[in-house]
Amino acid sequence: MSVLLSGGMVTTATQSRLAAVRSTDGRIVEIGDLVPRPGEEVIDCSGCLVLPGGIETHSHLDLEAVGTVTADDFASGTRSALAGGTTTVLDFGTQFHGESLAEGLARWHDKARGQAVTDYGFHLAMTQWRPEFADEMAQIVAAGITSFKLYMAYRGSMMVEDDEIYAALSASSRLGATIGFHCENGLVIDALVREELARGHTGTFYHQRTRPPALEREAFGRLTTIAELLDAQHYIVHLSAGETIEEVRRARQRGSKVVAETCPQYLLLDDSLYGTPECDDLEARQYVMSPPLRAPENLDALWAGLADGDIQFVGTDHCSFNLKGQKDQAPDFARIPNGAPGIELRLALLYTYGVAAGRISPERFVAVTAENAARYFGLYPRKGTLLPGSDADIVVNDPKPSWTVRHDVLHDNVDHTPYEGRRIQGRVRDVFLRGHHVVADGVLAGDLAPGEFVPCGLPDSDIT
Ligand code: URP
Ligand code: ZN
Ligand code: ZN
Repeated sequence: MSVLLSGGMVTTATQSRLAAVRSTDGRIVEIGDLVPRPGEEVIDCSGCLVLPGGIETHSHLDLEAVGTVTADDFASGTRSALAGGTTTVLDFGTQFHGESLAEGLARWHDKARGQAVTDYGFHLAMTQWRPEFADEMAQIVAAGITSFKLYMAYRGSMMVEDDEIYAALSASSRLGATIGFHCENGLVIDALVREELARGHTGTFYHQRTRPPALEREAFGRLTTIAELLDAQHYIVHLSAGETIEEVRRARQRGSKVVAETCPQYLLLDDSLYGTPECDDLEARQYVMSPPLRAPENLDALWAGLADGDIQFVGTDHCSFNLKGQKDQAPDFARIPNGAPGIELRLALLYTYGVAAGRISPERFVAVTAENAARYFGLYPRKGTLLPGSDADIVVNDPKPSWTVRHDVLHDNVDHTPYEGRRIQGRVRDVFLRGHHVVADGVLAGDLAPGEFVPCGLPDSDIT
């Protein structure tokens, strides 16, 4: 079965050109000045961008946390991703206390298998460090999971200490793997939280007051110093603060093997959404995520970092909890389930506020939403680009229509979106996953085939 996408602006991380793309049996076979073959399906893409399918670097689907579970599982979370033009999702599989790494990974395969409708891979988050993991990591890498995660925050549940970071990086670098880090100083945050609660300050406003940006910068600086001793590949997930970018830049100048991810929420939303010390509106609880939203001046710094190559990917950290029945249940700011949804709007927001607003080029848009992730997580050139031989994961984005985000048009399973009321320029018109036409004229197919597990290769931090 052959399909010809004709007349569109074919855009990759390195070039844009008017061309046609032919795919056959799930793979791209030709790109250029092509004429339709007899019997071939032809889709007119005039006036549209033809892009590689997006790669989501950061989701938490079907994650058990603080006595509850995320509103989105692999079925709803990946439907939502696909509707928004993301064809591959890299989710944080999680090893919980007491489990081996293999047990944690097996549970994540069980959650995703037959449920996911995008292709998918995993990072493996370790909620503790145990010395035997140094050997177990080799089996995980052999099974196609080449990126791990450690938390420098969440004391008492997931936080690891510096000697554990050293041991984990030492093991991962021997294997040529990488580790993503949640960079916040969990010990100091814990002290600040206890101080505020002791003063009777329970409102949502205090979430950001107890997690200042300096504690992200400090944690990242500490991490990268440890990693440099080992020449180990590492990356910072959900970078939120302008001052942390400066540290990343300095580290990369020193030759540190570090890359950085940020998220749409840190590019577009600011800390005014937490309200005032007095108010404790339910609305504000939707923005309780860690790291928290930052002061407005950080947003410009993040956009500049994205444009200049200091930040390599944009993932959403999609970690969805309902406002009603989940986020509203907590007695104080410190016990609100952390996280926000966003997986469906990643490309739309980046296109609108990045490309259409003139902050990043269309090629940079492809780099930060698809190609850099494919290269770093060893999926390139199968994913993340448009080349003969690549999977036919293709997005046709029509830049002309504009629309307003309303939660009820999204495909997730949570009860809100932090982007309610936002204007969006352009529309994901068509999506192909390995040649299957899964979104046609903006409508997600009702009958979706299961996605495939994609094993990741070893990371290549030589990306900008
Ligand atoms: O608040 C957040 N980000 N929740 C998800 C877990 C994490 O820290 O990535
Ligand atoms: Zn995190
Ligand atoms: Zn996360």
